[in-house]
Order: sequence, then structure tokens, then C-alpha cells
Amino acid sequence: MPGKRSAPSAIRILCLSGPNLQLLGTREPEIYGHTTLAEIHARLEARALALGAHVEGRQTNHEGTLVDWIGAARADGFAGLLLNPAAYTHTSIALYDALRAVALPCVEVHLSNPDAREAFRRRSRVAPACVGRVSGFGPDSYELALEALVRLLSRA
Ligand code: DQA
Repeated sequence: MPGKRSAPSAIRILCLSGPNLQLLGTREPEIYGHTTLAEIHARLEARALALGAHVEGRQTNHEGTLVDWIGAARADGFAGLLLNPAAYTHTSIALYDALRAVALPCVEVHLSNPDAREAFRRRSRVAPACVGRVSGFGPDSYELALEALVRLLSRA
């Protein structure tokens, strides 16, 4: 769609979502709301365009695929990452290592506020490899994280 194409100089951001997030819209709506991931990606794309950026949204249920995507992100021309690792947040040293290895700024994103939920959600394995975290604002968490990342990248 020519109207939606970003400028060649646009900041390119990769937005990754992990397991079970393909079910957003119907998954535990009392926690995650009714917005689908496709809707979140569409909103992100629109917001990115207004900010002079371009976002590519992807989702997978597989930890290794997230590791592959993070590891290739720099070579693929991305300047930063938005990452909702879902349950892998709390377990994945592989994702922590991948973020450290690629050394791109990454904002950790959650729809819910994991700190206000079960105790096992209070530990994030990826947090020490991220520049910051936005959580608890439902789908807006993604947009707020995008704004924060674009500001950070614009300062660099
Ligand atoms: C989540 C929070 C995680 O604890 C959980 O495992 C998810 C979603 C969120 O976006 O609120 O799958 O990352």
C-alpha cells in the first residue's frame, strides 16, 4: 500500500510477541482485554508512521524463533526492539543472552502488570538486558513503549 510506506530514513523497530499472544482478543479477556494482536500491530504501525518510524510486528510460540529473530535484528536493519516475551519473560536465559548479544535497545512490554499477579511472574529474566519496561496498560503498553523507544533512538 503506497500510502502506508515509510520514508527510507524511518527508524526501523521490530516488535516481537511470545507464546499465547496470538490468542489475544479471546484469551483471559478480564486480564488481557478484547483487542487482538493484529489490532495492536495495526495501531503500532499507525503510531510509528506519525513518529517517523516503521514497526514490523511478529509473534511466535517458540523460544528459539524469538532467539533467531533477536539475533538477526541488527543485520536485518532494525534500530531497536519491543519485546513481549510472555511466559518466557520469567524463564528464558536464552532470550536474555540474545538481547545482550545483539546489543540493540529493547523495551520490555506487558499488557498486564506482572508484578501485581502471581509470585512467579515477579521475576523477569530479560529485564536486565532491556533499557526499560512498560506494563499494565493493556494494548497501550505497546504504543507507550514505542514512543519511549523512538525518543531514545532519536536522542542517540
Ligand atoms: C504477559 C505477562 C506474562 O506473565 C504472561 O505469561 C503472558 C503475557 C503480558 O503481556 O501481560 O503471557 O507478558
